[in-house]
Amino acid sequence: MTTSTRGDVKDISQAARGKDRIAWAAKEMPVLRLIGERFRKDLPLKGVRMSGCLHITTETANLAITLQAGGADLVLCASNPLSTQDDVAAALVSEYGISTFAIKGEDEDTYYRHIHAALDHKPNMTMDDGCDLVTTLHTTRKELIPAVIGGMEETTTGVIRLRSMEKQGVLKFPILAVNDSDTKHLFDNRYGTGQSVIDGIVRATNILLAGRTVVVVGYGWCGRGIASRARGMGSNVIVTEVNPTRALEALMDGYRVLPGLEAATVGDIFVTATGNINVIDEPHLEHMKDGALIANAGHFNAEINIAALEHLATAKRRVRDFVDEYTYADGRQVHLLAEGRLVNLSAAEGHPASVMDMSFANQALGSEYMLQHAKELQARVYTLPADLDKEIARLKLQAMGVRIDTLTAEQDKYLNSWEAGT
Ligand code: ADE
Repeated sequence: MTTSTRGDVKDISQAARGKDRIAWAAKEMPVLRLIGERFRKDLPLKGVRMSGCLHITTETANLAITLQAGGADLVLCASNPLSTQDDVAAALVSEYGISTFAIKGEDEDTYYRHIHAALDHKPNMTMDDGCDLVTTLHTTRKELIPAVIGGMEETTTGVIRLRSMEKQGVLKFPILAVNDSDTKHLFDNRYGTGQSVIDGIVRATNILLAGRTVVVVGYGWCGRGIASRARGMGSNVIVTEVNPTRALEALMDGYRVLPGLEAATVGDIFVTATGNINVIDEPHLEHMKDGALIANAGHFNAEINIAALEHLATAKRRVRDFVDEYTYADGRQVHLLAEGRLVNLSAAEGHPASVMDMSFANQALGSEYMLQHAKELQARVYTLPADLDKEIARLKLQAMGVRIDTLTAEQDKYLNSWEAGT
């Protein structure tokens, strides 16, 4: 382990490999590249101290390099104990001079020590994925709040926590909910999670998905993506939901919809994507078939009741990387992937760079917007302006070589009038 004021990473000698992989991801991030070129000229973030609590991946490294090009003075820490790519953390420190506090497999104490280390940077702006940085700032590091002009939040779970802080009147600075941009959740949450969760399950287990019954718990944007990709791999997909509209949508999308306890008895593979606690609970675990696999795609490791699983099992054994086998008293065995942490970032590499390109374009443009507008904003949760969101979509289409139509003057006028009817 290498600990220094420039960060805390597992093995600095992995930096060259990390640098190559960061460059590989960059090829798939044309929108961020364009923003970076402008940032390098205009330096919109000059002198801004930023602390980012993000998954330390090749894609995040490209965001960090973009913000640094824009003049930001940036420090990073991990937003999950299992999601760090150690070679990337090493490269950030030694190749790019970005202090990074992140080690894959770090325990909870180290995880929070790293968050505190990132806060020791005394940020003017925060960047969070899950809201642990902002929560720590608002609880144990309140003295740092006056220097913070605002922040950005990447994910649904973080936005839910921030809206609760806003509602309770405890949020102390404005936050841009990057997650709520169309160019974020419609693509990252759906296609990114859809593909990377399947990738994580397959890398961890090497199982065949065709012909298997996959139970997707929760039909938000992530659940929709996972269900669609599992179906694409030939699985029979069951959706469980508590929201009647989403359940109806799942049904009309062609999936079987069942109550959780019924699905528990027939599923081969379970994937949680709800953002809620114990959505796979002791009664579900009790009824699972021999050989069942259980994985979580949500931000926190709270969705599967692991304590109940430990209680039900008479034996537990790690049978492969990221696979724990639990044996029940009657001989049935169920398998928990990645200790119930997000399977895509633990057992695989998270979302592909092409989709993170748009998410992180929102982060980069969001940080510039926050700096320009912080004085007008209150201590509330905001979305990015629609024109920035549309511009990111336009740039992505352009990078992909896809052209679209524009309204004619006649059509534009028609849409803005009310007189014409049948
Ligand atoms: N969240 C999901 N996938 C990610 C990735 N590849 N990099 C950073 N954050 C992510």
